[in-house]
Formats: sequence, structure tokens, C-alpha cells
Amino acid sequence: MNASTIAIVGAGQAGATAAAELRRQGYTGRVVLIGDEPHAPYERPPLSKDVLLQPDTARCAIHADDFYQQQSIELRLGVPVVALDPHARTLALRDGTTIVFDKVLLATGARVRRLPMLDALGDGVHTLRTLDDARRLHAVLKPGRRVLLVGAGVIGLELASSAVDLGAEATVIEQAPRAMMRCSPPMLSEHLCDVHRARGVSLHLGVPIVSATREGGEIVLTLQDGTRCTGDAVIYGIGVEPETTLARMAALDIDNGIVVDAQCRTSHPDIYAAGDAACRRAANGHAVREETWENANRQAVTATRAMLDLAPESADAPWFWTDQCGLNIQFAGDMAAPEWLARGSLAAPPCVLFGLDGEGAVVGAITVNQGRDMRSAKALIGKRARIAREVLVDSTRNLRDLAREAA
Ligand code: FAD
Ligand code: APR
Repeated sequence: MNASTIAIVGAGQAGATAAAELRRQGYTGRVVLIGDEPHAPYERPPLSKDVLLQPDTARCAIHADDFYQQQSIELRLGVPVVALDPHARTLALRDGTTIVFDKVLLATGARVRRLPMLDALGDGVHTLRTLDDARRLHAVLKPGRRVLLVGAGVIGLELASSAVDLGAEATVIEQAPRAMMRCSPPMLSEHLCDVHRARGVSLHLGVPIVSATREGGEIVLTLQDGTRCTGDAVIYGIGVEPETTLARMAALDIDNGIVVDAQCRTSHPDIYAAGDAACRRAANGHAVREETWENANRQAVTATRAMLDLAPESADAPWFWTDQCGLNIQFAGDMAAPEWLARGSLAAPPCVLFGLDGEGAVVGAITVNQGRDMRSAKALIGKRARIAREVLVDSTRNLRDLAREAA
């Protein structure tokens, strides 16, 4: 294996982590990391937070500038891979070069879902996925600007928070009945809406947009209930779609993303996939795709270990976080749990929410300004602990002890 070439397509979170992990594991063969963006690999979470709020000091590089050279990782930036031939084991780059690989990792991430009705408005309509997008938003989120945010998912709410911090006026429009419905239980969704409203955000839930027009200098979004929302600019975040173009070209198994097994192998034995682009089949046959920083890192490590024939590492419950309105909110486990209990009060954080399944076992947890309890919460989830409800919500009880004692 050490005289071989491992190519990584996509120089984002999963790609940069995988390249580093190959070297960390002692792989001495050729590592080529190819990205279509012009920037060295960077983290996306700060884009909706610090990069907007503290543009001069925010750092988002995944590794130091000289890391790639020091680690003999060939970094090819600003050049998309345009073809993947699984039989010839080649990647074709747009600049005309070809890379022959022994194994390849597809870490191609996701693209924002487009809304043609809004795109048709042209100037003044934005999305947020890349560093370049975030830099463009500096001119948009200015004091007094009226910003229409379409989608009350993670991006929409984080943008609403940053917009208010920057002195802009934010209106959020969401077609679903509640905010962050994909990844948050109702108890937290409702609370977050209250917090945003208290900060002056105007929130419209459960109302699709029926028309988008430009009237004079203004953008007007008309909602199904007749409400007219006017603003100077629109930023929309209505979800992402996995980037599967190369996987399709290679005729790999694709569902809601590039289908991988527990070792991140695709349907081709020498092609792996990790991060937002990858999905795995759950026991019920559904294709599960996670869109989180931690999943990108974890799958990158899993894939590289499998490429090097190393045993897989054990994994905790899935975890992600959001920062908005001064709240650091961390989520672990199953956000669709049918019952939620609060340890402490959401209205006066710190607070921890526990999600229980139908049998009363802890399957999910959310910490609000209480990240230090996350390790214990994950341990409870890992054990599917069944603890009397009154004990679980009693904040005088030490959570670490409960986790240690749980059967
Ligand atoms: P990406 O980071 O998207 O990297 C994929 C890269 O591959 C991209 O640079 C893409 O351009 C490139 N690429 C695609 N196709 C090709 C090709 N053919 N040739 C060459 N290059 C290609 N997660 C959290 O857990 N917490 C957060 O608070 C959080 N905040 C976020 C805020 C924002 C604004 C965004 C956009 C995301 C946030 N996320 C957050 C999600 C997290 O950043 C992603 O899950 C993570 O970046 C996924 O990593 P990835 O490597 O799979 O994809
Ligand atoms: N009009 C209004 N809202 C819409 C529309 C529409 N036409 N279509 C979808 N939505 C709403 C969804 O109901 C959902 O609440 O947009 C929201 C999208 O939320 P997410 O799925 O969380 O996606 P987004 O907020 O765009 O975040 C994209 O960035 O932070 C990361 O991990 C996060 O991968 C995710 C990505």
C-alpha cells in the first residue's frame, strides 16, 4: 500500500481530515488532495458565525498553511475533478491532468438546494456555503439593512442571529410549521423562535412563498396567507443536496447520497466516500445522511483506516452544534425521540434536554450553554440508560455520577 497513490476529491472538512489521518497512520505513499475552491481547506461552521461577526480575526483554516507541504500532501486547489473512471482508476481534472489512483475518497460535500423563484430575482439574492459566499455577505448584513431570510433551518437561524448582532433587520420565512424541524425537537424549536422574536426578528412559520418580485428598489416576497415581506436583500438556506456527480459517472450505488458501508466503502471496493456526500443504509433500509462537522471528520478517519486495513474505531452517538443568540447548543443522538424532558429551564440556561424512546431509555440529549455535560449525556445515550424521570431532571444530581452508575 505504501508505494501507492490515494487520491481525495474535495478539499473540505472530510478531505483535509482524511489526508492528515493517512499521514498520522504512517502511510508513506502519494496523497493527492484536489479541491475546486481556490482556498486551502477551511471549516464551514464559522462562516455563519465568527466570519460574519469578526471578519478580521476569525480563523477557519483546517490546518496551518505549511501543513500540506510538510506532510507531503499534494494540494491541488481551484481545479475540479471532472471525470472518474473506476476501471482505469483515473481522475481527470479540468486543467487537463490525469491522476492514476489505487484508492480514492470522494469527499465532495454538498451543494445548496436552489430555489429558482428567488434566483430569478438576480442581484440581492444570496446563499451561504463557501468562504466566498460569507465574504459577500459582509456587504449585505449592515446596520439598518432589511434582510429576508428564507428557511428557518440551522443556516437561517444562525444568520438571523448574526444579522441582528450586526444591526440588520431580519425577517425569517419558513414553509414548515416549525423551525429547525430536521434536527431539533419541538420544545427547542419553539424556544428558539421565542428567543429570536425577543431580539426583534420577524418570524413567519408554516407559510410558503407564492411570489417573489422586485418593486422599485425593494424585494417583495408574498406569502400564501397574503403577507408581503419586503427587504433589501434575500439570503436563503433551504437545505443542501449531496454532490454525487462523479459517483454517478462511476455508476456507484446512490440513494440520498453516495451509499457507503460502515467502513465508508462504496459499491466499488477501492472507492470510498465520507462527509455530507455519503449516506449509509439504516436497519430499516432508509438512507441516512448526516450533514455535520463531526460526521465529516469521523467518516474521514473511518475511510482512511479502512483503506489502510486498520481496525475501525468505536463511535459515539452522532453530535453537532449550533451557536445563535448567545446560546451554544449541542445535540447528540436521536432528535426524533418521542418524549423530551428538561433538566433546568430553557428560559434560564444552562439547561440539558433528554430525549427518551418509547421504553423510557435515553436516546438523545441537547445541552444549552452546558457543553461540559455532553460527555455524560453521550454516555447515557450509549448505554440507553433508563433512569427515573424525576432523577434525570433533578439538576442537584451529578450527571457524571448518573452516567457512571447507569446500567
Ligand atoms: P465540504 O466541507 O462541503 O467540502 C467538500 C468540498 O469538495 C468543497 O470544497 C467542494 O467545493 C469540493 N468539491 C465538490 N466536488 C468537487 C469536484 N468534483 N472536484 C473538486 N472538488 C470538489 N456543522 C456542525 O456540526 N455545526 C455547525 O455549527 C455547522 N455550521 C455550518 C455553517 C455553515 C455556513 C455551513 C455551510 C455548514 C455548517 N456545518 C455545521 C456543516 C459542516 O460544515 C459540514 O457538514 C461539513 O463541512 C461537511 O464536510 P464535507 O467535507 O463533507 O463537505
Ligand atoms: N421556503 C421556505 N423554507 C423552506 C423552503 C422554501 N421553499 N424549502 C425548504 N425550506 C426550509 C425547510 O423546511 C427547513 O426548515 O428550509 C430549512 C432548511 O433547513 P436545513 O435542512 O437545516 O438546511 P440549512 O439551514 O440550509 O443548512 C444547510 O448547513 O449548517 C449546515 O448542517 C447544516 O447541512 C446543513 C446545511
